[in-house]
Amino acid sequence: MPRPRAYITRRIPHAALEIVAAACDYTLWDSDDQPVPRAVLLREAAQADGVLTMLSDKLDGEFAAAAPRCRVVANMAVGYDNADVPVLTAHGVLLTNTPGVLTDTTADLAWALLMAAARRIVEGHKLIEAGGWKSWSPLFMVGQEISGATLGIVGAGRIGSAVARRARGFDMRVLYHNRHRAPALEAEIGAEYHSFDDLLRAADFVVVLVPLTAETRGMVGAREFALMKPTTVFVNAARGPIVQEQALVAALKHGQIAAAGLDVFEHEPIGADHPLLGLPNVVVVPHIGSATLATRTRMATTAAHNLVAALTGQPVPNPVNPEVLGHGD
Ligand code: DGY
Repeated sequence: MPRPRAYITRRIPHAALEIVAAACDYTLWDSDDQPVPRAVLLREAAQADGVLTMLSDKLDGEFAAAAPRCRVVANMAVGYDNADVPVLTAHGVLLTNTPGVLTDTTADLAWALLMAAARRIVEGHKLIEAGGWKSWSPLFMVGQEISGATLGIVGAGRIGSAVARRARGFDMRVLYHNRHRAPALEAEIGAEYHSFDDLLRAADFVVVLVPLTAETRGMVGAREFALMKPTTVFVNAARGPIVQEQALVAALKHGQIAAAGLDVFEHEPIGADHPLLGLPNVVVVPHIGSATLATRTRMATTAAHNLVAALTGQPVPNPVNPEVLGHGD
């Protein structure tokens, strides 16, 4: 039996390469700073039985058509909005993701953004660097109070729940909005379920952690920012297109909300001329929610296990479209 052929679309931690190498012949796009060019991805996928992909790789009809041998796409991310799941399913391609292994790391980053935006950390740092610190003064660089405030979580899945749990340490009231009630979270930390609009009206901090889907695309826009308080701090650690960016810029410029902390953007990567960047009340980071070495290693090894399992007929740990497996071969 020839060994399956795999393609890996980026340099990944060695531990994950070893898992793939034990079962497959593989090639990879061995770069840290450049994503695999589309033409290379399509050419390599054409020869592959499975592909280990990144959230920046578009897995659409063109990809599926170019990869007739491909049986599995193991995405190294929990989110899979880069994949057209119905199209992959129609082509009999199994998609897998990496849930569970980046929950706490991403929740930590959401809190880092919340705190940095609320307490004007980056603004203060830049002010000192520019020689602008002249004296201590009672109203100098005052920010938003965190302890005892009301946190509104939009999307109470794994990461949203982990963000909510951290609020206990700050004696916060926690509101959440979700497609389904989360009784376990309510029992555990007293989180209160609210309608989306009521949450936006009541929360001092609004943290978005829903997946990007047809329903959530653009769900936070001018209407939603108008419902928030002028003191609200808004955090997006999920996916950029959930938020209408122009409306966010306007809300920040016109004082409809106090500040924003953002890990994700409508079109990534953003350049230095992005309209959000001139604003003093914005903290931005380059989609690093899961970026610790330990977590990225867990994500890569999880993706590698998914890939190898699918290619060697073992139970697949994290299938997104398990109905493909049901078709059997
Ligand atoms: C994911 O896994 O979806 C994250 O966005 C990666 O940080």
